[in-house]
Amino acid sequence: MQRNFDNPTIVKIEKVIEETPTVRTLVFSNKVLSDVLPGQFAMVWIPGINELPMSVMVSNEKGKAAFTVRKHGIASTGLYSLKVGEQIGVRGPYGNSFTLKQGKLLLVGGGTGLVPLIRLLTFLKKSDDVILLIGSKSKNEVFFEKIANQILEQNKHMVIVVTEDGSYGKAGLVTQTMEDLLSKTKFDAVYTCGPEKMMHKVVQLASSQNIQVEASIERMMKCGMGICGSCCFGEVLACRDGTIFDGKYLFSNKEFGYTHRNKAGILENY
Ligand SMILES: Cc1cc2nc3c(=O)[nH]c(=O)nc-3n(C[C@H](O)[C@H](O)[C@H](O)COP(=O)(O)OP(=O)(O)OC[C@H]3O[C@@H](n4cnc5c(N)ncnc54)[C@H](O)[C@@H]3O)c2cc1C
Ligand code: FES
Repeated sequence: MQRNFDNPTIVKIEKVIEETPTVRTLVFSNKVLSDVLPGQFAMVWIPGINELPMSVMVSNEKGKAAFTVRKHGIASTGLYSLKVGEQIGVRGPYGNSFTLKQGKLLLVGGGTGLVPLIRLLTFLKKSDDVILLIGSKSKNEVFFEKIANQILEQNKHMVIVVTEDGSYGKAGLVTQTMEDLLSKTKFDAVYTCGPEKMMHKVVQLASSQNIQVEASIERMMKCGMGICGSCCFGEVLACRDGTIFDGKYLFSNKEFGYTHRNKAGILENY
């Protein structure tokens, strides 16, 4: 696969899409990132601020790619606040990608963890029968419902939104809805990306029924390409060996769902 150099390639923001009051999608032209595999990420340099790992979002325009960013700390707020015409640096793509399975597929995402799952939707076969669960705290934080339905237009599919406060869609935790679905339907594969506690439960539920499951892991990333060690996840490096791991491996990794390293490299509990 083609790759931007490991020095940032400068791209200009061409469009900004408001997804929610705290989430925006920034669209830019870059052939390499427009073609990445589902689950791959880029390192994004926000000039004068920092560099952050970001999953690569799809764009419906040829040759274009996008990042969907939630404003949080200084760097993500800097990225979120960029306007059309302003520049960022991108390098990558890095990381592995989801394994494409066929049949009855269940995707479970929360927050910006939906980004790699939306890209995965664009790689599925028209014959796949797909259920996407979108988990959110409340109605004003729900995004990507429309684009998911558009991408899956020709598939047998359901996009189910689950809000914790019940303000939209089904009420409760997305993993409760997953449990209900598993009691009625036999899935061929499960994919998940989002908060690690959520993914831990998703992997447990899928594995308890012997369903193949893959999760995309987030860890602190500085180099993004296996040099600095800041993304260590047990014995492996999330940026180089992941970010996608299967359920069998995840259960052998004692950090999964419990601990991660902070910016100083110190283990912290979730
Ligand atoms: C592979 C990968 C893909 C990601 N994709 C997206 C995405 O599509 N959209 C999105 O909004 N966010 C994404 N993130 C999270 C994003 O990189 C930042 O962690 C987040 O935006 C907060 O950064 P901050 O510096 O503003 O926050 P801060 O307040 O400085 O930090 C808050 C927390 O963010 C995390 N964080 C900060 N810097 C990094 C870093 N360099 N690497 C990893 N985690 C960090 C840490 O858990 C930290 O405690 C992704 C992370 C990874 C590892
Ligand atoms: S981020 Fe440097 S080794 Fe993974």
